[in-house]
Amino acid sequence: ARTASIVGTGMYVPERVVTNRDLEEIVDTSDEWIFSRTGMRERRIAAEDQATSDLAAEAAKAALADAGVAAAEVDQLITATLSPDMIFPSTACLVQHRIGADRAACFDLGAACSGFLYALEQARCSIASGAADTVLVIGAEKMSAFLDWEDRSTCVLFGDGAGAAVLRARGDRIGVGEAVLGADGSLAELLCVPAGGSRMPASEDTLRRRLHCLRMEGREVYKHAVSHMVESVYDVLRRHELDPDEIACFIPHQANARIIQAVGARLDVEERMFMDVERYGNTSAAALAIALHEAVKSGTVSRGELMVLVAFGGGFTWGANIVEC
Ligand code: ACO
Repeated sequence: ARTASIVGTGMYVPERVVTNRDLEEIVDTSDEWIFSRTGMRERRIAAEDQATSDLAAEAAKAALADAGVAAAEVDQLITATLSPDMIFPSTACLVQHRIGADRAACFDLGAACSGFLYALEQARCSIASGAADTVLVIGAEKMSAFLDWEDRSTCVLFGDGAGAAVLRARGDRIGVGEAVLGADGSLAELLCVPAGGSRMPASEDTLRRRLHCLRMEGREVYKHAVSHMVESVYDVLRRHELDPDEIACFIPHQANARIIQAVGARLDVEERMFMDVERYGNTSAAALAIALHEAVKSGTVSRGELMVLVAFGGGFTWGANIVEC
């Protein structure tokens, strides 16, 4: 089978910067609490008239331009998101229309914060099998639309944004490697938006109880995130018979600086962990896509070097893969 490679990346974040100090005006919190627990200083929050597909379309256009690929050449467009514009149609279809990817098959992929990693694996499989030549993978979120702005334990943690990657066969040795993916649906309730779906349709009661907003058991999520991310990295390195020393940069889901530092310490690769959570907060499925773009464009990794992408999110879902720059 042929290998798939990332031939272009792009990102978009909304203009509005919301600092920890700004949040002090909204909920009973402090810059010191937020920064010491999460490593976050600020996040971007989308305008009222900006939906997830708007952020996604900007990131997609940037990635296509970076790759030198026309929108009309895209065979498959996958949007990883937990904050779609609507329940249906998919955000991917809305992005397709915005960017003119008229030939593309379009679908959303739901794996919460691990969505971009899961979507990269789908793209890799499509290219390896010959089902598609060009795949556009987007991670995009307007988390602010699903936050309870009266709950200080969650609203300070998230931000809005989008990142994208274009995949094609380029004849690389590894390109996007075969991923390790996992899930545990028994823990779904620890991190979820309970209402608005078929289990608990929208009603005055669900609105009053704020069940359309994100709920999280932070402590539990933290524990599971660290152990699954560490295990996933070991698994993917074993699968590819690689040693941690052969990896130029580890790019983790940007949930929280303490999670990232704990994972780095357990793997003994602290100084090679990429982190931008200080500027964007946790942008869920967009976080890995944005971090990948920034790692590549900042020169943290150079052409031919290897990265490990590793994620954990609601579901629970998790995974890791090897990406050749
Ligand atoms: N400002 C001030 N105080 C706060 C805030 C806030 N924003 N939020 C909560 N608190 C209070 C709580 O009310 C609680 O007070 P109490 O003890 O009087 O009841 C106290 O702070 C809890 O503090 P800690 O126990 O120190 O909090 P902890 O160390 O657990 O940190 C955090 C909380 C940051 C949420 C941590 O649990 C965490 O990082 N969890 C992982 C969350 C995460 O990253 N989730 C996403 C990962 S997966 C994904 O991306 C979908």
